[in-house]
Amino acid sequence: MSFAGQTIAITGGSSGLGLQLARNFAQQGARLALMARDADRLDSAARECGGDVFTFAGDVTKEEDCRAFIQQVVGERGGLDHLIANAGQSMWARFEEVEDLSLYRRLLEVNYLGAVYCTHAALSALKQSRGQVVVISSIQAKVGVPLHTGYGASKHALEGFIDALRYELDGTGVNLLKIYPHWIRGTELRRHALGPDAQPMGKRKRSHSDSGVDVDECAGAIMNAMARRRQTLYVPWTLRYVQFIKNLFPGFVRWSIRRKVGDQK
Ligand SMILES: NC(=O)c1ccc[n+]([C@@H]2O[C@H](COP(=O)([O-])OP(=O)(O)OC[C@H]3O[C@@H](n4cnc5c(N)ncnc54)[C@H](OP(=O)(O)O)[C@@H]3O)[C@@H](O)[C@H]2O)c1
Repeated sequence: MSFAGQTIAITGGSSGLGLQLARNFAQQGARLALMARDADRLDSAARECGGDVFTFAGDVTKEEDCRAFIQQVVGERGGLDHLIANAGQSMWARFEEVEDLSLYRRLLEVNYLGAVYCTHAALSALKQSRGQVVVISSIQAKVGVPLHTGYGASKHALEGFIDALRYELDGTGVNLLKIYPHWIRGTELRRHALGPDAQPMGKRKRSHSDSGVDVDECAGAIMNAMARRRQTLYVPWTLRYVQFIKNLFPGFVRWSIRRKVGDQK
């Protein structure tokens, strides 16, 4: 598995999973392009990766930013091999307690439209390289989780988009890889998650229980799946049975999810 010399664009590459992927790809000699809103954090991510990292401070909810990012990457690097649509935001609030319903629009814009805009901008370059789009989804694209109504809905939207697009890309050589992680420890997602007031939770955030996976384990599994050009990856792999079990024993799955969410203090 080597990504040496390959051009990899990562949205949300300044923190958490995106940053961990960037570090790993940099070690292998990949040519990186990172996008996120906060320019200072992007610069420090680029310094950490070392070498020749292209950075673009932009917002994935703006179509023009996504298009400019991809156009500049392709212009600078002469092509694009992988787009990792990773930028994302979560929530932590009961539906009835949400005071500002703009939260729902915001999550759709970041988690769903952000991936759509970047994928659209990147497709022609990816067809030329017979490259791939890697979409960082969530197991919440498959099962609902309390306190995450808007987040789960945005990941379900992504699911429908990628499933339909896969048919259209048959025969083009472009691979679509969907990633379904459990909770990932070692990222900033919970600090940035929106609370009932549609503002980031910050210090109000919930901490992790023991359930979930470490960010480096998740990044390693994603790189492996990319190298093999797989179409789906569950992290950990046991999650692939969740939907099947949900169909057979819905009450058990609801009990288990409620308990796991209750453990996040
Ligand atoms: N952590 C988990 O438990 C977990 C589980 C399953 C799936 N995921 C998914 O994994 C992905 C990465 O999340 P993470 O856990 O690594 O979170 P994170 O540490 O908060 O990183 C999120 C990244 O996305 C960027 N970002 C957020 N909003 C953006 C916007 N509007 N435009 C451009 N960039 C934006 C952030 O930078 P700026 O704020 O500077 O823009 C940051 O670089 C997300 O899609 C998330 O849904 C996470």
